[in-house]
Amino acid sequence: GIPKYVKIVEVGARDGLQNEKNMVPTSVKIELIQRLVSTGLSVVEATSFVSPKWVPQLADAKHVIEAFTNIDSVRLPALVPNMKGFEAAIAAGAKEIAVFASASESFSKSNINCTIQQSLARYRAVVSAATKLSIPVRGYVSCVIGCPVDGMTPPSKVAYVAKELHDMGCYEISLGDTIGIGTPGTVIPMLGAVMAVVPVEKLAVHFHDTYGQSLPNILVSLQMGISTIDSSIAGLGGCPYAKGASGNVATEDVVYMLDGLGIKTNVDLRKLLQTGDFICKHLGRPSGSKAALAFSHK
Ligand code: HMG
Ligand code: MG
Repeated sequence: GIPKYVKIVEVGARDGLQNEKNMVPTSVKIELIQRLVSTGLSVVEATSFVSPKWVPQLADAKHVIEAFTNIDSVRLPALVPNMKGFEAAIAAGAKEIAVFASASESFSKSNINCTIQQSLARYRAVVSAATKLSIPVRGYVSCVIGCPVDGMTPPSKVAYVAKELHDMGCYEISLGDTIGIGTPGTVIPMLGAVMAVVPVEKLAVHFHDTYGQSLPNILVSLQMGISTIDSSIAGLGGCPYAKGASGNVATEDVVYMLDGLGIKTNVDLRKLLQTGDFICKHLGRPSGSKAALAFSHK
């Protein structure tokens, strides 16, 4: 049956803002994260410790993490692509990290400049160092349905990368349809392949709304037993190395659907809408959330 409680992993401050053309001031990022936390979200991905040459938008990662060093009630993971990023994250005071691999070779090359195997070797070193410090590590797999260059991704490839991340010690594996091309028709077999090798309670889904398929994809994921969903406030996002990928599924839309299904999230939709409003005003554009649009006319 579908889960009674769903954990939402809010990724807007990272997956969303990494793709903004204009630099968002550090103070706005910090206020965004504070507001997201106040909605009841238990996990708010905060930033990435990646090369500032690759993602200048998140060059202030250290300052963002440092603003929250005294907060223990909420989890604020930061992405790291290698040991250099791991060390910088720990020095800034990060208490949780995430590593990100790909199920497509071309995307691995364009996103992190190495092969899938090289990335897994890097991540083994990162997870091992993190484990020594009792730092939990989340693992992402991107391009789980397809890749802009390599085309459709075989489910067996996704299962392989997910199992590698799980076996090296990632406590949760987030399956990302980075370019948002999936439908329930491709998502179900992909999840089936991954669930055969990684326990379902360790899996999360991460959908982008390029073709408007996120909510049906989330619904079938729930029906298959997945209870962790990644989403982004106001549907912020995209991916700098996946052209045409529109935003992540909007957190407001996910919470509206989960509320309708009677699934508990502990997230306050009203506060979420206000937070979406806050960041959209700063970015100077309308929300990517349909629910936000509907409520704004009430
Ligand atoms: P590289 O050029 O191969 O790295 O990039 P390198 O090791 O050869 O180093 C080159 C330079 O970068 C050196 O500096 C390093 O010190 C520096 P220089 O000597 O030239 O001055 N460097 C770093 N600086 C800061 N932090 C670091 C770091 N590492 C090296 N951690 C690298 C390799 C992985 C660094 C680069 O490709 C990179 O930063 N990529 C990140 C790209 C990214 O953030 N993409 C978006 C996130 S993934 C995503 O969005 C998908 C996801 O959301 C799931 C989904 O949506 O499906 C997770
Ligand atoms: Mg994403």
